[in-house]
Amino acid sequence: MNEAIELAAARGPDLSPGSKLAVVIMAAGKGTRLKSGRPKVLHQIGGKPLLGHVIAAASRVVAPGDIYVVVGHQAERVKAAVADTGVHFIEQPDQRGTGHAIQCAQAAIGGYEHILVLSGDVPLIQPQTIEHLWRFHQAERAAMTLLTAVPPDPTGYGRVVRGSKKSPEVGAIVEQWALTAQQQTQREINSGIYAFRTKILLAHLDKLTTNNAHGELYLTDMAAILSAAGERVVAIEAGEAAEVLGANTIAELVALDATLRAATASRLMAVGVTIFRPETCVIDAEVEIAPDTVIEPFVQLLGSTRIGGECLIRSFSVIENCKLGNSVLIHQSCVLADSTIGDGAKIGPFAHLRPGSEIGENAHVGNFVETKKARLGKGAKANHLTYLGDAEIGERTNIGAGVITCNYDGVQKHTTTIGKDVFVGSDSTLVAPLTVEDGAYIGAGSCITKDVPAGSLALARAQQIVKPGWVAARRSSRKPSQ
Ligand code: UD1
Ligand code: CA
Repeated sequence: MNEAIELAAARGPDLSPGSKLAVVIMAAGKGTRLKSGRPKVLHQIGGKPLLGHVIAAASRVVAPGDIYVVVGHQAERVKAAVADTGVHFIEQPDQRGTGHAIQCAQAAIGGYEHILVLSGDVPLIQPQTIEHLWRFHQAERAAMTLLTAVPPDPTGYGRVVRGSKKSPEVGAIVEQWALTAQQQTQREINSGIYAFRTKILLAHLDKLTTNNAHGELYLTDMAAILSAAGERVVAIEAGEAAEVLGANTIAELVALDATLRAATASRLMAVGVTIFRPETCVIDAEVEIAPDTVIEPFVQLLGSTRIGGECLIRSFSVIENCKLGNSVLIHQSCVLADSTIGDGAKIGPFAHLRPGSEIGENAHVGNFVETKKARLGKGAKANHLTYLGDAEIGERTNIGAGVITCNYDGVQKHTTTIGKDVFVGSDSTLVAPLTVEDGAYIGAGSCITKDVPAGSLALARAQQIVKPGWVAARRSSRKPSQ
Protein backbone atom coordinates (compact mmCIF):
# COMPACT_ATOMS: atom_id res chain seq x y z
CA MET A 1 0.00 0.00 0.00
CA ASN A 2 1.49 3.33 -0.95
CA GLU A 3 1.73 6.30 1.38
CA ALA A 4 -1.23 8.13 -0.15
CA ILE A 5 -3.51 5.14 0.17
CA GLU A 6 -2.32 4.56 3.73
CA LEU A 7 -3.08 8.18 4.60
CA ALA A 8 -6.45 7.96 2.94
CA ALA A 9 -7.23 4.74 4.76
CA ALA A 10 -6.11 6.28 8.04
CA ARG A 11 -8.69 9.03 7.62
CA GLY A 12 -11.34 6.69 8.95
CA PRO A 13 -15.07 6.79 8.26
CA ASP A 14 -14.90 9.85 5.96
CA LEU A 15 -13.56 7.70 3.17
CA SER A 16 -15.65 4.59 3.65
CA PRO A 17 -17.01 3.29 0.32
CA GLY A 18 -20.36 4.95 0.98
CA SER A 19 -18.86 8.43 1.10
CA LYS A 20 -16.21 8.05 -1.50
CA LEU A 21 -14.29 11.17 -2.36
CA ALA A 22 -12.63 12.09 -5.65
CA VAL A 23 -10.37 15.01 -6.51
CA VAL A 24 -10.77 16.79 -9.84
CA ILE A 25 -7.87 19.01 -10.91
CA MET A 26 -8.64 21.55 -13.63
CA ALA A 27 -5.58 21.76 -15.87
CA ALA A 28 -6.87 22.17 -19.42
CA GLY A 29 -6.38 25.92 -19.85
CA LYS A 30 -3.83 27.51 -22.11
CA GLY A 31 -2.56 30.16 -19.72
CA THR A 32 -2.90 33.04 -22.18
CA ARG A 33 -1.68 35.59 -19.62
CA LEU A 34 1.69 33.81 -19.34
CA LYS A 35 2.43 34.65 -23.02
CA SER A 36 4.15 31.28 -23.31
CA GLY A 37 4.21 28.36 -25.73
CA ARG A 38 4.27 25.95 -22.80
CA PRO A 39 0.96 25.01 -21.14
CA LYS A 40 0.48 26.94 -17.91
CA VAL A 41 0.39 23.92 -15.61
CA LEU A 42 3.79 22.76 -16.89
CA HIS A 43 5.54 25.95 -15.86
CA GLN A 44 7.76 25.16 -12.91
CA ILE A 45 8.19 26.49 -9.42
CA GLY A 46 10.65 24.96 -6.99
CA GLY A 47 11.96 22.81 -9.85
CA LYS A 48 8.63 21.02 -10.44
CA PRO A 49 5.62 21.74 -12.71
CA LEU A 50 2.66 23.54 -11.12
CA LEU A 51 0.46 20.51 -11.81
CA GLY A 52 3.02 18.20 -10.15
CA HIS A 53 2.68 20.18 -6.91
CA VAL A 54 -1.13 20.02 -7.00
CA ILE A 55 -1.14 16.27 -7.71
CA ALA A 56 1.35 15.70 -4.86
CA ALA A 57 -0.90 17.57 -2.41
CA ALA A 58 -4.04 15.76 -3.64
CA SER A 59 -2.27 12.38 -3.40
CA ARG A 60 -1.88 12.92 0.33
CA VAL A 61 -5.64 13.23 0.73
CA VAL A 62 -6.99 10.55 -1.65
CA ALA A 63 -5.36 7.68 -3.56
CA PRO A 64 -4.02 8.59 -7.03
CA GLY A 65 -6.71 6.33 -8.55
CA ASP A 66 -9.34 8.77 -7.24
CA ILE A 67 -7.68 11.82 -8.81
CA TYR A 68 -8.97 13.04 -12.18
CA VAL A 69 -6.97 15.66 -14.06
CA VAL A 70 -8.86 17.60 -16.74
CA VAL A 71 -6.49 18.20 -19.67
CA GLY A 72 -7.07 20.01 -22.96
CA HIS A 73 -4.51 22.50 -24.24
CA GLN A 74 -1.46 20.44 -25.31
CA ALA A 75 -3.05 17.51 -23.48
CA GLU A 76 -0.48 14.93 -24.56
CA ARG A 77 2.38 17.04 -23.25
CA VAL A 78 0.63 17.62 -19.93
CA LYS A 79 -0.24 13.92 -19.55
CA ALA A 80 3.33 12.85 -20.34
CA ALA A 81 4.74 15.23 -17.72
CA VAL A 82 2.74 13.66 -14.86
CA ALA A 83 2.15 10.16 -16.25
CA ASP A 84 4.13 8.53 -13.44
CA THR A 85 1.74 9.79 -10.73
CA GLY A 86 -0.97 7.20 -11.47
CA VAL A 87 -3.82 9.74 -11.81
CA HIS A 88 -6.64 9.53 -14.39
CA PHE A 89 -7.05 12.03 -17.21
CA ILE A 90 -10.22 13.55 -18.61
CA GLU A 91 -10.20 15.31 -21.96
CA GLN A 92 -11.65 18.78 -22.40
CA PRO A 93 -10.85 19.27 -26.09
CA ASP A 94 -12.18 22.84 -26.33
CA GLN A 95 -11.67 24.90 -23.20
CA ARG A 96 -14.96 26.66 -22.57
CA GLY A 97 -14.35 27.58 -18.96
CA THR A 98 -13.95 26.05 -15.51
CA GLY A 99 -17.64 25.02 -15.43
CA HIS A 100 -17.19 23.23 -18.75
CA ALA A 101 -14.12 21.45 -17.35
CA ILE A 102 -16.29 19.93 -14.62
CA GLN A 103 -19.06 19.11 -17.14
CA CYS A 104 -16.45 17.08 -19.05
CA ALA A 105 -15.72 15.16 -15.83
CA GLN A 106 -19.38 14.26 -15.15
CA ALA A 107 -19.19 10.61 -16.17
CA ALA A 108 -16.04 9.99 -14.14
CA ILE A 109 -17.27 11.59 -10.91
CA GLY A 110 -20.86 10.36 -10.93
CA GLY A 111 -20.11 7.43 -8.60
CA TYR A 112 -18.47 9.51 -5.90
CA GLU A 113 -20.52 11.08 -3.14
CA HIS A 114 -18.34 14.19 -2.95
CA ILE A 115 -15.65 15.79 -5.08
CA LEU A 116 -12.93 18.24 -4.27
CA VAL A 117 -12.03 20.56 -7.12
CA LEU A 118 -8.48 21.95 -7.30
CA SER A 119 -6.91 24.27 -9.83
CA GLY A 120 -3.77 23.14 -11.64
CA ASP A 121 -2.38 26.68 -11.37
CA VAL A 122 -2.75 27.03 -7.58
CA PRO A 123 0.32 25.00 -6.58
CA LEU A 124 1.11 25.91 -2.98
CA ILE A 125 -2.05 24.33 -1.56
CA GLN A 126 -1.20 22.04 1.37
CA PRO A 127 -2.86 18.67 2.07
CA GLN A 128 -3.85 19.85 5.56
CA THR A 129 -5.77 22.77 4.06
CA ILE A 130 -7.56 20.48 1.59
CA GLU A 131 -8.52 18.19 4.48
CA HIS A 132 -9.65 21.18 6.51
CA LEU A 133 -11.97 22.21 3.64
CA TRP A 134 -13.24 18.64 3.34
CA ARG A 135 -14.03 18.32 7.05
CA PHE A 136 -15.80 21.69 7.12
CA HIS A 137 -17.82 20.73 4.02
CA GLN A 138 -19.00 17.55 5.77
CA ALA A 139 -19.67 19.22 9.10
CA GLU A 140 -21.73 21.92 7.35
CA ARG A 141 -23.56 19.30 5.27
CA ALA A 142 -23.08 21.71 2.39
CA ALA A 143 -23.80 21.25 -1.30
CA MET A 144 -20.82 23.47 -2.17
CA THR A 145 -17.99 24.69 0.02
CA LEU A 146 -15.38 27.08 -1.23
CA LEU A 147 -11.98 27.81 0.15
CA THR A 148 -11.35 31.53 0.41
CA ALA A 149 -8.51 33.81 1.46
CA VAL A 150 -7.84 37.45 2.18
CA PRO A 151 -4.57 38.30 0.41
CA PRO A 152 -2.96 41.75 0.60
CA ASP A 153 -3.93 42.39 -3.05
CA PRO A 154 -7.14 40.67 -4.24
CA THR A 155 -6.99 42.15 -7.77
CA GLY A 156 -7.83 39.66 -10.51
CA TYR A 157 -9.53 37.08 -8.29
CA GLY A 158 -13.22 36.26 -7.99
CA ARG A 159 -14.69 37.76 -4.79
CA VAL A 160 -16.97 36.06 -2.32
CA VAL A 161 -20.36 37.55 -1.50
CA ARG A 162 -21.45 36.28 1.91
CA GLY A 163 -24.89 36.60 3.47
CA SER A 164 -23.40 38.54 6.35
CA LYS A 165 -19.81 39.11 7.41
CA LYS A 166 -19.79 36.38 10.06
CA SER A 167 -22.01 33.90 8.23
CA PRO A 168 -20.39 30.93 6.49
CA GLU A 169 -23.09 31.12 3.82
CA VAL A 170 -22.25 32.39 0.38
CA GLY A 171 -24.68 33.97 -2.06
CA ALA A 172 -22.40 34.26 -5.06
CA ILE A 173 -18.86 34.54 -6.45
CA VAL A 174 -18.30 37.65 -8.54
CA GLU A 175 -15.42 37.72 -11.02
CA GLN A 176 -13.10 40.73 -11.10
CA TRP A 177 -14.56 42.21 -14.30
CA ALA A 178 -18.11 42.11 -12.90
CA LEU A 179 -17.40 43.69 -9.50
CA THR A 180 -19.54 46.66 -8.52
CA ALA A 181 -17.75 49.68 -7.03
CA GLN A 182 -18.80 48.51 -3.57
CA GLN A 183 -17.60 44.94 -4.23
CA GLN A 184 -14.19 46.25 -5.35
CA THR A 185 -13.39 46.86 -1.69
CA GLN A 186 -14.33 43.27 -0.82
CA ARG A 187 -11.00 41.51 -0.14
CA GLU A 188 -12.10 37.92 0.41
CA ILE A 189 -11.20 35.97 -2.73
CA ASN A 190 -12.31 32.67 -4.21
CA SER A 191 -9.30 30.35 -4.27
CA GLY A 192 -10.70 28.21 -7.09
CA ILE A 193 -10.70 25.25 -4.68
CA TYR A 194 -14.07 23.73 -3.79
CA ALA A 195 -15.87 20.74 -2.30
CA PHE A 196 -19.18 19.63 -3.85
CA ARG A 197 -21.81 17.05 -3.02
CA THR A 198 -21.67 15.36 -6.41
CA LYS A 199 -25.35 14.52 -6.85
CA ILE A 200 -26.45 18.09 -6.21
CA LEU A 201 -23.69 19.54 -8.38
CA LEU A 202 -24.58 17.29 -11.30
CA ALA A 203 -28.30 18.01 -10.93
CA HIS A 204 -27.64 21.73 -11.51
CA LEU A 205 -24.47 21.74 -13.65
CA ASP A 206 -26.34 22.30 -16.93
CA LYS A 207 -27.75 25.55 -15.57
CA LEU A 208 -24.43 27.27 -16.25
CA THR A 209 -24.57 29.81 -19.07
CA THR A 210 -22.03 31.71 -21.13
CA ASN A 211 -23.75 34.92 -20.22
CA ASN A 212 -20.56 36.76 -19.16
CA ALA A 213 -17.74 38.91 -20.52
CA HIS A 214 -15.67 35.97 -21.77
CA GLY A 215 -18.52 33.80 -23.04
CA GLU A 216 -17.31 30.92 -20.84
CA LEU A 217 -19.03 28.50 -18.50
CA TYR A 218 -17.89 29.61 -15.06
CA LEU A 219 -17.80 27.03 -12.26
CA THR A 220 -18.00 30.00 -9.89
CA ASP A 221 -21.60 30.59 -11.02
CA MET A 222 -22.55 27.36 -9.23
CA ALA A 223 -22.46 29.32 -5.96
CA ALA A 224 -25.36 31.54 -7.02
CA ILE A 225 -27.19 28.72 -8.86
CA LEU A 226 -27.10 26.34 -5.87
CA SER A 227 -27.84 29.09 -3.40
CA ALA A 228 -30.89 30.18 -5.44
CA ALA A 229 -32.04 26.54 -5.54
CA GLY A 230 -32.05 26.53 -1.73
CA GLU A 231 -28.91 24.41 -1.41
CA ARG A 232 -26.32 25.19 1.25
CA VAL A 233 -23.27 27.01 -0.10
CA VAL A 234 -20.61 27.91 2.48
CA ALA A 235 -17.06 29.20 2.56
CA ILE A 236 -14.11 28.68 4.82
CA GLU A 237 -11.02 30.87 4.88
CA ALA A 238 -7.58 29.32 4.41
CA GLY A 239 -5.17 30.04 7.25
CA GLU A 240 -2.42 31.16 4.88
CA ALA A 241 -3.49 33.33 1.95
CA ALA A 242 -0.13 32.60 0.22
CA GLU A 243 -1.19 28.93 -0.13
CA VAL A 244 -4.05 29.67 -2.48
CA LEU A 245 -2.51 32.25 -4.79
CA GLY A 246 -2.58 31.39 -8.49
CA ALA A 247 0.05 31.70 -11.19
CA ASN A 248 -1.62 33.52 -14.08
CA THR A 249 1.33 35.68 -15.17
CA ILE A 250 5.10 35.15 -15.17
CA ALA A 251 5.40 37.71 -12.37
CA GLU A 252 2.93 35.72 -10.24
CA LEU A 253 4.73 32.48 -11.10
CA VAL A 254 8.10 33.87 -10.03
CA ALA A 255 6.55 35.20 -6.81
CA LEU A 256 5.15 31.73 -6.00
CA ASP A 257 8.56 30.22 -6.75
CA ALA A 258 10.17 32.63 -4.27
CA THR A 259 7.54 31.78 -1.63
CA LEU A 260 8.08 28.05 -2.11
CA ARG A 261 11.88 28.30 -2.03
CA ALA A 262 11.74 30.43 1.12
CA ALA A 263 9.53 27.76 2.70
CA THR A 264 11.97 25.04 1.60
CA ALA A 265 14.92 26.93 3.14
CA SER A 266 12.91 27.41 6.36
CA ARG A 267 12.06 23.70 6.44
CA LEU A 268 15.75 22.81 6.13
CA MET A 269 16.90 25.39 8.69
CA ALA A 270 14.31 24.03 11.11
CA VAL A 271 16.07 20.65 11.01
CA GLY A 272 19.50 22.13 11.70
CA VAL A 273 20.87 23.12 8.30
CA THR A 274 22.61 26.51 8.17
CA ILE A 275 21.80 28.47 5.03
CA PHE A 276 23.52 31.82 4.91
CA ARG A 277 21.60 34.45 2.95
CA PRO A 278 18.89 31.93 1.98
CA GLU A 279 17.27 34.48 -0.34
CA THR A 280 20.26 34.08 -2.69
CA CYS A 281 20.06 30.27 -2.82
CA VAL A 282 17.95 28.26 -5.26
CA ILE A 283 16.84 25.10 -3.48
CA ASP A 284 14.29 22.81 -5.14
CA ALA A 285 11.30 21.66 -3.12
CA GLU A 286 12.37 18.02 -2.74
CA VAL A 287 15.99 18.55 -1.69
CA GLU A 288 16.93 16.92 1.63
CA ILE A 289 19.88 17.96 3.82
CA ALA A 290 20.99 16.53 7.18
CA PRO A 291 21.75 18.73 10.23
CA ASP A 292 24.98 20.70 10.66
CA THR A 293 25.56 21.17 6.97
CA VAL A 294 26.37 24.73 5.98
CA ILE A 295 25.24 26.24 2.68
CA GLU A 296 26.96 29.46 1.65
CA PRO A 297 25.21 32.21 -0.35
CA PHE A 298 24.43 31.77 -4.07
CA VAL A 299 24.28 27.98 -4.06
CA GLN A 300 21.81 26.02 -6.23
CA LEU A 301 20.61 22.63 -4.98
CA LEU A 302 18.33 21.05 -7.53
CA GLY A 303 16.17 18.04 -8.30
CA SER A 304 16.43 15.04 -6.01
CA THR A 305 19.70 16.13 -4.37
CA ARG A 306 20.39 14.58 -0.94
CA ILE A 307 23.18 15.98 1.25
CA GLY A 308 24.46 14.41 4.45
CA GLY A 309 25.43 16.12 7.71
CA GLU A 310 28.46 18.30 8.51
CA CYS A 311 29.02 19.20 4.85
CA LEU A 312 30.08 22.62 3.60
CA ILE A 313 28.77 23.77 0.24
CA ARG A 314 30.62 26.92 -0.77
CA SER A 315 29.27 29.73 -2.93
CA PHE A 316 28.33 29.49 -6.63
CA SER A 317 28.13 25.70 -6.73
CA VAL A 318 25.26 24.08 -8.65
CA ILE A 319 24.35 20.56 -7.51
CA GLU A 320 21.63 18.64 -9.34
CA ASN A 321 20.31 15.13 -8.57
CA CYS A 322 23.39 14.25 -6.50
CA LYS A 323 23.86 12.24 -3.35
CA LEU A 324 26.49 13.54 -0.95
CA GLY A 325 27.61 11.68 2.18
CA ASN A 326 28.63 13.29 5.46
CA SER A 327 31.44 15.84 5.94
CA VAL A 328 31.78 16.52 2.22
CA LEU A 329 33.44 19.80 1.23
CA ILE A 330 32.34 21.35 -2.04
CA HIS A 331 34.57 24.35 -2.72
CA GLN A 332 33.40 27.37 -4.70
CA SER A 333 31.97 27.23 -8.23
CA CYS A 334 31.52 23.49 -8.75
CA VAL A 335 28.96 22.00 -11.16
CA LEU A 336 27.77 18.55 -10.10
CA ALA A 337 25.07 16.47 -11.80
CA ASP A 338 23.69 12.96 -11.26
CA SER A 339 26.69 11.92 -9.19
CA THR A 340 27.49 10.34 -5.84
CA ILE A 341 30.09 11.66 -3.39
CA GLY A 342 31.29 9.66 -0.40
CA ASP A 343 31.91 10.80 3.19
CA GLY A 344 34.77 13.22 3.70
CA ALA A 345 35.41 13.83 -0.01
CA LYS A 346 36.65 17.23 -1.18
CA ILE A 347 35.60 18.67 -4.51
CA GLY A 348 36.73 21.81 -6.36
CA PRO A 349 36.99 24.70 -6.60
CA PHE A 350 35.85 24.79 -10.25
CA ALA A 351 35.27 21.05 -10.59
CA HIS A 352 32.75 19.58 -13.03
CA LEU A 353 31.23 16.24 -12.09
CA ARG A 354 29.11 15.04 -14.98
CA PRO A 355 26.51 12.24 -14.76
CA GLY A 356 27.67 8.90 -13.46
CA SER A 357 30.59 10.15 -11.38
CA GLU A 358 31.11 8.24 -8.14
CA ILE A 359 33.62 9.82 -5.83
CA GLY A 360 34.71 7.55 -2.98
CA GLU A 361 35.20 8.34 0.69
CA ASN A 362 37.88 10.94 1.39
CA ALA A 363 38.73 11.20 -2.31
CA HIS A 364 39.80 14.58 -3.72
CA VAL A 365 38.73 16.09 -7.02
CA GLY A 366 40.47 19.41 -7.40
CA ASN A 367 40.32 22.52 -9.52
CA PHE A 368 39.52 22.34 -13.21
CA VAL A 369 38.91 18.60 -13.07
CA GLU A 370 36.10 17.12 -15.17
CA THR A 371 34.73 13.64 -14.54
CA LYS A 372 32.10 11.65 -16.43
CA LYS A 373 31.08 8.06 -15.63
CA ALA A 374 34.20 7.91 -13.51
CA ARG A 375 34.54 6.00 -10.26
CA LEU A 376 37.26 7.12 -7.85
CA GLY A 377 38.00 4.73 -4.98
CA LYS A 378 38.54 5.69 -1.34
CA GLY A 379 41.24 8.30 -0.90
CA ALA A 380 41.99 8.61 -4.62
CA LYS A 381 43.14 12.04 -5.76
CA ALA A 382 42.82 14.00 -8.99
CA ASN A 383 43.72 17.43 -7.82
CA HIS A 384 44.40 19.55 -10.88
CA LEU A 385 43.39 20.11 -14.50
CA THR A 386 42.29 16.59 -15.42
CA TYR A 387 39.66 14.84 -17.54
CA LEU A 388 38.51 11.43 -16.33
CA GLY A 389 35.80 9.88 -18.53
CA ASP A 390 34.59 6.25 -18.53
CA ALA A 391 37.23 5.52 -15.92
CA GLU A 392 37.62 3.30 -12.87
CA ILE A 393 40.27 4.49 -10.44
CA GLY A 394 41.32 2.41 -7.45
CA GLU A 395 41.81 3.34 -3.83
CA ARG A 396 44.59 5.79 -2.94
CA THR A 397 45.61 6.24 -6.57
CA ASN A 398 47.08 9.64 -7.43
CA ILE A 399 46.25 11.23 -10.74
CA GLY A 400 48.79 13.97 -11.54
CA ALA A 401 48.04 17.41 -12.92
CA GLY A 402 46.84 17.52 -16.51
CA VAL A 403 46.19 13.78 -16.91
CA ILE A 404 43.67 12.95 -19.63
CA THR A 405 41.79 9.73 -20.26
CA CYS A 406 41.37 9.53 -24.04
CA ASN A 407 38.04 7.68 -23.87
CA TYR A 408 36.66 8.47 -27.33
CA ASP A 409 38.10 7.24 -30.62
CA GLY A 410 35.76 9.33 -32.72
CA VAL A 411 33.19 6.53 -32.91
CA GLN A 412 33.03 4.71 -29.59
CA LYS A 413 33.72 5.31 -25.92
CA HIS A 414 36.28 3.08 -24.17
CA THR A 415 37.08 2.42 -20.54
CA THR A 416 40.25 3.16 -18.62
CA THR A 417 40.76 0.93 -15.59
CA ILE A 418 43.37 2.00 -13.06
CA GLY A 419 44.08 -0.11 -9.99
CA LYS A 420 44.90 0.76 -6.39
CA ASP A 421 47.93 2.79 -5.26
CA VAL A 422 48.82 3.79 -8.80
CA PHE A 423 50.81 6.96 -9.50
CA VAL A 424 49.97 8.60 -12.82
CA GLY A 425 52.56 11.31 -13.53
CA SER A 426 51.45 14.75 -14.63
CA ASP A 427 50.46 15.50 -18.21
CA SER A 428 50.03 11.84 -19.14
CA THR A 429 47.47 10.73 -21.68
CA LEU A 430 45.87 7.34 -21.18
CA VAL A 431 44.50 6.02 -24.47
CA ALA A 432 41.53 3.72 -23.77
CA PRO A 433 40.75 0.85 -23.70
CA LEU A 434 43.51 0.49 -21.17
CA THR A 435 44.29 -1.17 -17.85
CA VAL A 436 46.91 0.05 -15.39
CA GLU A 437 47.31 -2.53 -12.65
CA ASP A 438 47.76 -2.00 -8.89
CA GLY A 439 50.82 -0.13 -7.69
CA ALA A 440 52.09 0.83 -11.16
CA TYR A 441 53.89 4.10 -11.88
CA ILE A 442 53.49 6.15 -15.03
CA GLY A 443 56.18 8.72 -15.75
CA ALA A 444 55.08 12.29 -16.29
CA GLY A 445 54.29 13.29 -19.86
CA SER A 446 53.67 9.73 -21.05
CA CYS A 447 51.23 8.76 -23.77
CA ILE A 448 50.18 5.31 -22.57
CA THR A 449 48.61 3.06 -25.18
CA LYS A 450 49.33 -0.41 -23.75
CA ASP A 451 48.30 -2.06 -20.49
CA VAL A 452 50.69 -1.54 -17.57
CA PRO A 453 51.31 -4.59 -15.31
CA ALA A 454 51.17 -4.34 -11.50
CA GLY A 455 54.11 -2.71 -9.81
CA SER A 456 55.88 -1.64 -13.01
CA LEU A 457 57.01 1.72 -14.32
CA ALA A 458 55.73 2.82 -17.71
CA LEU A 459 57.42 5.64 -19.56
CA ALA A 460 56.23 6.65 -23.01
CA ARG A 461 57.80 9.95 -23.93
CA ALA A 462 60.57 11.27 -26.14
CA GLN A 463 64.15 10.87 -24.80
CA GLN A 464 65.66 14.09 -23.54
CA ILE A 465 68.81 15.26 -25.31
CA VAL A 466 71.27 17.51 -23.42
CA LYS A 467 74.20 19.18 -25.29
CA PRO A 468 76.59 20.84 -22.79
CA GLY A 469 77.96 24.29 -23.90
CA TRP A 470 75.66 24.36 -26.95
CA VAL A 471 74.38 27.88 -26.36
CA ALA A 472 77.77 29.59 -26.13
CA ALA A 473 79.07 27.65 -29.15
CA ARG A 474 76.08 28.73 -31.22
CA ARG A 475 76.48 32.38 -30.27
CA SER A 476 80.16 32.51 -31.19
CA SER A 477 79.53 30.83 -34.56
CA ARG A 478 77.09 33.51 -35.63
CA LYS A 479 77.72 37.18 -36.26
CA PRO A 480 75.07 39.53 -34.94
CA SER A 481 72.87 40.77 -37.79
CA GLN A 482 73.29 44.42 -38.93
C1 UD1 B 1 -10.55 31.25 -11.36
C2 UD1 B 1 -11.91 31.62 -10.76
C3 UD1 B 1 -11.75 32.82 -9.83
C4 UD1 B 1 -10.73 32.49 -8.76
C5 UD1 B 1 -9.40 32.02 -9.37
C6 UD1 B 1 -8.50 31.50 -8.28
C7 UD1 B 1 -13.47 31.02 -12.53
C8 UD1 B 1 -14.41 31.52 -13.54
N1 UD1 B 1 -12.83 31.94 -11.82
O1 UD1 B 1 -10.15 32.37 -12.15
O2 UD1 B 1 -12.99 33.11 -9.20
O3 UD1 B 1 -10.51 33.63 -7.94
O4 UD1 B 1 -9.64 30.95 -10.31
O5 UD1 B 1 -7.23 31.14 -8.77
O6 UD1 B 1 -13.38 29.82 -12.33
N2 UD1 B 1 -9.29 25.48 -16.80
C9 UD1 B 1 -9.70 24.33 -17.44
N3 UD1 B 1 -10.57 24.43 -18.48
C10 UD1 B 1 -11.06 25.63 -18.91
C11 UD1 B 1 -10.63 26.80 -18.23
C12 UD1 B 1 -9.76 26.70 -17.18
O7 UD1 B 1 -9.29 23.22 -17.09
O8 UD1 B 1 -11.85 25.64 -19.87
C13 UD1 B 1 -8.30 25.36 -15.69
C14 UD1 B 1 -7.06 26.18 -15.92
O9 UD1 B 1 -6.05 25.39 -16.58
C15 UD1 B 1 -6.64 26.54 -14.51
C16 UD1 B 1 -7.95 26.56 -13.73
O10 UD1 B 1 -8.91 25.89 -14.53
O11 UD1 B 1 -5.77 25.59 -13.96
C17 UD1 B 1 -8.45 27.98 -13.44
O12 UD1 B 1 -8.62 28.67 -14.67
P1 UD1 B 1 -8.12 30.17 -14.86
O13 UD1 B 1 -8.42 30.57 -16.24
O14 UD1 B 1 -6.75 30.32 -14.37
O15 UD1 B 1 -9.14 30.92 -13.87
P2 UD1 B 1 -8.91 32.30 -13.15
O16 UD1 B 1 -9.10 33.39 -14.13
O17 UD1 B 1 -7.65 32.29 -12.39
CA1 CA C 1 -5.88 30.99 -12.41
